[in-house]
Amino acid sequence: MKNIILIGFMGVGKGSVAREVVKLSEYTAVDTDDLIESMENKTVKKIFSQDGEKYFRDLEKKVSLWLESSVKNTLISTGGGFYKQENLKNIGTVVLLNSSFDKIVGRIKNHPNAKSKIKKRPLLKDLKKARELYDQRLPQYLSVADIVIDVTEKCALECAKELLQKVGKNA
Ligand code: S3P
Repeated sequence: MKNIILIGFMGVGKGSVAREVVKLSEYTAVDTDDLIESMENKTVKKIFSQDGEKYFRDLEKKVSLWLESSVKNTLISTGGGFYKQENLKNIGTVVLLNSSFDKIVGRIKNHPNAKSKIKKRPLLKDLKKARELYDQRLPQYLSVADIVIDVTEKCALECAKELLQKVGKNA
């Protein structure tokens, strides 16, 4: 099985969809933010505040090289900025989870753990800046994706089923 790389904006539901895909298929899953946090023994939030964004992006690069050389048969969920890695396509099939900025923010705000979801994401603190980041990234997400899944009005299970169906067709 070729790796699947899930990309998309913060809060779009990459982690939830990854968990459903694992339940429905043979894939095991890893998450790039989790890998970085265990490498550094620090949360992403702490890495941003203590070491800066550039340091975090260098860690993403390191993870991308390791994924390319060493990881197979895996669903890789990524942080919202990971799509910029130059070797993305060498790692696996790139699947974009997509929704409008307003829907993403609405979804986060309605979540029972809304506060911690926002707090742990440094780039979501300022919603005006986050919207600008979304607008700037959307065309780049679309251009790097092999497969696009519109997650608006769909639960994680529905997205996971659609993903497996579309990946199957692409395999
Ligand atoms: C980021 C998204 C975050 C995390 C970091 C930077 C981004 O991951 O990697 O805060 O640049 O969009 P999620 O997409 O899982 O929130």
